[in-house]
Amino acid sequence: MKPARKDLSRLFSPSSIAVVGASRDRSKIGHILVKNIIDSGYKGRIYPVNPVAKEILRLKAFPDYASLPEVPDLAVISVPAAVAVQVLSEIATKGTKNVVVITAGFRESNAEGAELEAELVRISKEYNINLLGPNCLGFVNNIDDLNVSFGKSNKTPGNLKFISQSGAVATSIFDWAESIGLGFSDFITIGNKAVTNENDILEFWLTQKREIPPAKEHILNDPRISRLHPIGIYLEALNEGEEFINTVSQITLNNPVFILKPGKSSATKKAIQSHTGSIAGENAVLDTAFREAGIIRCEGVEDMFDLAKVFSWEKAPKGPNVAIVSNAGGPAVISTDFIQEAGLKLAELSTHTSSQLAKCLPRSVNIHDPVDVQGDALAARYGSAIDIVLGQKDVHALLVILTPQIMTQIHRTAEFIARLASVHNKPVICSFMGGTAISEGETVLNRFKIPSFRFPERAIHALGKMWWWYDYSSRRAAELKVLASNRKQEIFETADENKISKIFEIAKKRKFRSVAAVSQSPNDKSIIFTPFETNEILKSWNIPTPPTCPVFDIYEALNFTKEYGWPVVLKVSSNKIMHKTELGGVIININNRAKLTASFAEIQRRINAFDPEIRKTCVIQIQEQVTHGVETILGVKKDPSFGHILMFGAGGTLAELIQDRNLALVSVSRLDAEKLIAGSKVAKVLNGYRGSKRLAVAKLAFVIERLSQLVEKFSEIEEFEINPLIVTEESVWAVDGKGIIQINPAEA
Ligand code: ACO
Repeated sequence: MKPARKDLSRLFSPSSIAVVGASRDRSKIGHILVKNIIDSGYKGRIYPVNPVAKEILRLKAFPDYASLPEVPDLAVISVPAAVAVQVLSEIATKGTKNVVVITAGFRESNAEGAELEAELVRISKEYNINLLGPNCLGFVNNIDDLNVSFGKSNKTPGNLKFISQSGAVATSIFDWAESIGLGFSDFITIGNKAVTNENDILEFWLTQKREIPPAKEHILNDPRISRLHPIGIYLEALNEGEEFINTVSQITLNNPVFILKPGKSSATKKAIQSHTGSIAGENAVLDTAFREAGIIRCEGVEDMFDLAKVFSWEKAPKGPNVAIVSNAGGPAVISTDFIQEAGLKLAELSTHTSSQLAKCLPRSVNIHDPVDVQGDALAARYGSAIDIVLGQKDVHALLVILTPQIMTQIHRTAEFIARLASVHNKPVICSFMGGTAISEGETVLNRFKIPSFRFPERAIHALGKMWWWYDYSSRRAAELKVLASNRKQEIFETADENKISKIFEIAKKRKFRSVAAVSQSPNDKSIIFTPFETNEILKSWNIPTPPTCPVFDIYEALNFTKEYGWPVVLKVSSNKIMHKTELGGVIININNRAKLTASFAEIQRRINAFDPEIRKTCVIQIQEQVTHGVETILGVKKDPSFGHILMFGAGGTLAELIQDRNLALVSVSRLDAEKLIAGSKVAKVLNGYRGSKRLAVAKLAFVIERLSQLVEKFSEIEEFEINPLIVTEESVWAVDGKGIIQINPAEA
């Protein structure tokens, strides 16, 4: 069961704070923490705790936590790691429920540190303490005038929130934000996130009903900043991915979330047991998860800074059409390429717009998009062009490029841009290209909260991400409505769940486990189903499978053809063989008695050549051959962080070459399945390629949805793959499958 949501209100908005390890030495963290709390204008009570000092920064100091005159809402620990556990015990005994541990030297350092951290966690759990850190910078809450960090923070409140696992990223953002006048409401560093992690904070923000002090209201309602509440995240590890995605999906419906998540985890270096297993690399899974949740993944630190600025200051474009007004032809032309790359379109100017432009611009000026106002353009000419272009309804955003010529009125042009942007209520982003000369223009733009970038590609990239998020959030809202009405129609009742459960039970009791399971580490507790079991599971779950059965001699094989006709396939069936085609374990196109007799003998011969351990698990399987279809592959795999991931794409012999791997997080609705198919490379063929008929795409979407439902129902499934899943004109056939389940430790 999911633990109750944590109330972090007193952690981030405490009425009283104790700093344990408040130092007399001005250069020490414990001193800076107290100073920052005072300097931030905090109105609550502050208690420095120091064993010898009588006073720190003119505040009465206390020798230990027990001697404090009240139970503070928040304790900040800034004593060495070896003492921190004892200090936390004292804090817990006194009754404080919120603690920030700045101290480093825990899990991130060595085994001894990990043990100390485990103690911090144990105490926190026992006393129900919200502990932030350890190994963190602290946090800043600019709405309540509070800087509980040892970083020099920008005090300006704003609509932006940040969560960072790195304190260094935090201090850099503080400094940069200050330099451009970018405000934020909260900046929380989580360090080792031993107790309080990003999910706790995001959930808290999602439900928080925050009171804005009257003195701050006008700043947050500043018409120059956007109405959005963007969230920036820097994470080194994402352990509870499923929960993260669930929470963030709710946030991104209304507000953008952008994340910088470097590195690749070792979690996915587990043994590869099927194609699906090999496909779901951590990065691809992360990309899928983030995309589905509407999260923008930053490509680097610069990208994160850019997005912080654009989302804080600008509204998102309501469509993809971007116009460019520039005094330089070259950069404008280069920008048109970037516009496409960023998922945007160069706006087409209407004849009305063009004729208006023609009236107020010199005759030689280009009146198509990009609008070249020419090198000698003064502020007024820029202004006229911007006003006209923004006036066209289907221009959704504007990029203004300025290069500094001797006569260029940089300052005035910036003022014109700012005024017109507020009149037209559309996103305007600038690229004043240069260095010293254009910096005065940037200062003006920053003052008016018009995002500006030294290079147009960065401006366009940021604009593209804004449009992606806006498009995502509006589509997602519509999809959720459809999903809500579809959910009622879901049909589970025709599936034979009991039969599937029984197959699971039998497989678990099997004495002999699979090669894959045996060859892995001794604690690998997985079982591979036999092909017949997989087939039965699929059939019982209403996923169509071609008729098949085990055959022990040629007469049984011939009897099968009497019932189901020709052609047929003979296969070696064994749960010890994961890739039977490579071992010559499949013979297809058997379309008469003589071929069947010969093939039966051949497959028997092949089995006899196998290692005895494998041979004794082999059975010959006969199956009706599905003809005239397109081979696809469909699989699911459990990711340690995000739960089940579904993969669909082109199958067959060319699959590896085509690399058509399309991922989706389970649960996958019919609508999601349709999108997954539409986005695949094989979609073209499925939809009727070069005059051939459209195949059973609707049924394919149904099967994808069904497989997703199977793993939702039977969560112990580790991997399940249908390969090939053949799509014909009338139907979809699960021809072969592989299934792996985990045994829980009690059953192992
Ligand atoms: N209760 C109260 N005060 C105590 C106690 C106690 N039990 N024990 C010691 N103190 C006092 C000390 O007397 C000292 O005060 P004084 O200077 O007036 O004598 C004060 O606490 C600090 O103790 P020190 O032993 O001097 O510790 P120091 O300040 O050198 O280091 C610190 C403590 C800052 C927590 C250090 O151990 C540490 O972890 N530093 C790294 C912090 C860090 O980088 N965190 C991650 C941030 S994110 C980023 O990377 C930017």
